[in-house]
Amino acid sequence: MKKDDDNSWASAMVTKGALPRVAWGQGLYVYDSTGKRYIDASGGPAVYCLGHSHPEVNEAIKQQLDKIAHGYRYSFTSDAQDELSASIAASCGHGLDAIVFVSGGSEAVESALKIALQYHSARGAQSRRRFIARRRSWHGNTLGALSVSDFVSRRAPFEGALIEASFVSSVNAYRPPAGVAVADLAEHCARELETEILRLGADKVAGFIFEPVVGAASGVVPAPPDYARRVREICTRHGVLMIADEVMCGSGRCGTWRALEHDGVVPDIMTIAKGLGAGYIPLGAAVYQHSILETLAKHDGGPLTGHTFTAHTTACAAGAAVQRIVKRDQLVERVRSEGESFQALLRDSLSGLEAVGDIRGRGFFIGVEFVADRATRAPFDPALQLSARIGRQAVERGLLCYAISGNVDGTRGDAVILAPPYIATRAQLAEIAAVFSDSARAALAEIKAA
Ligand SMILES: Cc1ncc(COP(=O)(O)O)c(C=O)c1O
Repeated sequence: MKKDDDNSWASAMVTKGALPRVAWGQGLYVYDSTGKRYIDASGGPAVYCLGHSHPEVNEAIKQQLDKIAHGYRYSFTSDAQDELSASIAASCGHGLDAIVFVSGGSEAVESALKIALQYHSARGAQSRRRFIARRRSWHGNTLGALSVSDFVSRRAPFEGALIEASFVSSVNAYRPPAGVAVADLAEHCARELETEILRLGADKVAGFIFEPVVGAASGVVPAPPDYARRVREICTRHGVLMIADEVMCGSGRCGTWRALEHDGVVPDIMTIAKGLGAGYIPLGAAVYQHSILETLAKHDGGPLTGHTFTAHTTACAAGAAVQRIVKRDQLVERVRSEGESFQALLRDSLSGLEAVGDIRGRGFFIGVEFVADRATRAPFDPALQLSARIGRQAVERGLLCYAISGNVDGTRGDAVILAPPYIATRAQLAEIAAVFSDSARAALAEIKAA
């Protein structure tokens, strides 16, 4: 099968055993075993929001390990779990204080889907089994999460065994559905959702899952103003749970702690992972409305989901330390204000490059989309593997970025995600913009010469 998804060149390098060997990291910099230095411009896949080897997070982990690594959730609660739960509830507000802790994004999405199904069953609405999701979105690699994801190559080997789901159009101002003006995009897509709910029958629909700012499958695509508000209205009207997947865009990455805060909208269920624990220890969570927990508690005693490592004590200690630092150092506010400067630096360094079609995003979550023709927005021939070439050129120059492909239709399209740690200084953002621009120019020259 042809690999056409994100980081396909990196997957191939993994298979060939050709990746550099990581040795250590400090702040924004990572060093491999040969001593080569890389500036981390994407925090892995938008994870390392505090950079590497933060001494306070390391210390919090050590202190927890010196006491106990893990108290099993059916035997104990812990200070670390309580602190992290209180921190998340305070950051979310609006009744989002029920939490199932897990070990990553896919488990968070899996938990969110199960909470939605259990909630409907508990209310006597067990006919509500169907999820609606959007095209060009990614929710994870477990079977449930994959079933609501539209990522052609990642789904292909599993087709036939996935849960049936409905897909509505992606909501992308740079690539709106044919015949839809950008000004009408939010309303058009909201109506499409409502039409699908009515087509299925509202009593059959459990939830609508979407990424408020789409990451890996589209190359950072925020929805237009009013879209989320209209989706909220439609979901409420039809008793469909609104599930915001904030695994990549949440936990402060977009300059608000919840990405949907930007839109003034509160979901019923929300998933978080990457920036929550900043990659120090695997950690994720499904966060949901207190009123949903009350229903689950009354009917079943609580949520019927979770795993051996749910609320792992040391993972919670790491997450609590990360969130303490994010709050104390006002890093979300910093991301919000510096995000504008970062975009300006990128626009400046990439100026004059005809192949740059779109630079978009929020806070420290930026996508740069490359096109073969700026006027028609036609993508490059996938065989040229432009984004993979940019990723390789960046690595050669000591820059780590997240190159994706297939963002246009699952097969065509080249984009690169830049998601630096929240602690990046203006000088480091400028370094990232300059080296990224050199890498893109070198990759385009390579293609021209081929
Ligand atoms: C929006 C979103 N949801 C879910 C996931 C799955 O998370 P994980 O890879 O931690 O399982 C990802 C991963 O990239 C993601 O971007």
